[in-house]
Amino acid sequence: MIIVYTSKTGFTKRYADLLAEKTGLLAYPATKVPRELEKEDILYLGWMKVGKVQGLNKVQREKIRAVCGSGTGETAEPDPETVIARNDLAKIPFFYLRGGCFPLKEQKGVDKLMLTAFVRMLKTREPQDSKTEEAIRIIVEGFDGVKAENLEPVLQWLQEEGEWRQ
Ligand SMILES: Cc1cc2nc3c(=O)[nH]c(=O)nc-3n(C[C@H](O)[C@H](O)[C@H](O)COP(=O)(O)O)c2cc1C
Repeated sequence: MIIVYTSKTGFTKRYADLLAEKTGLLAYPATKVPRELEKEDILYLGWMKVGKVQGLNKVQREKIRAVCGSGTGETAEPDPETVIARNDLAKIPFFYLRGGCFPLKEQKGVDKLMLTAFVRMLKTREPQDSKTEEAIRIIVEGFDGVKAENLEPVLQWLQEEGEWRQ
């Protein structure tokens, strides 16, 4: 098995690197999988955009054994069931990994427009509970949620699958 990832701003890559370091599995960006490893099974990691795990279409679907999606929420957003349905992941394990983001003023292009619109929408949401306030603050100020301990369920799965021994 190999680790394959798609990371735009580096948070998902950090998880891929942590996993590779811990397990000895090789990790590659989805666009740079060496030809001789194209037949390997894949543990896929991708950043999430509006509930879609990015880059999944860049690898052979039937080789993917499990998917990790990284986002900024405490849990997968909009919610785990929607993410599983939206990415067609009903038949394989899905793990959510809390990633992070750079402050809104450092974002560029379409991403900045989308996040600005999202913040505007969140500000009109009723009620303005602490979860909504936190979501706004994370996008505006930036946030780093990458922690090695978040990988525990993935490591456990790798162990159960016989792909890694502690
Ligand atoms: C335009 C845009 C849309 C996003 N949509 C979601 C989302 O639907 N759910 C979520 O949890 N995170 C969402 N995020 C946050 C990223 O998925 C998160 O910051 C991720 O950890 C970034 O990973 P990367 O640094 O590897 O690119 C979005 C970010 C951007 C820029």
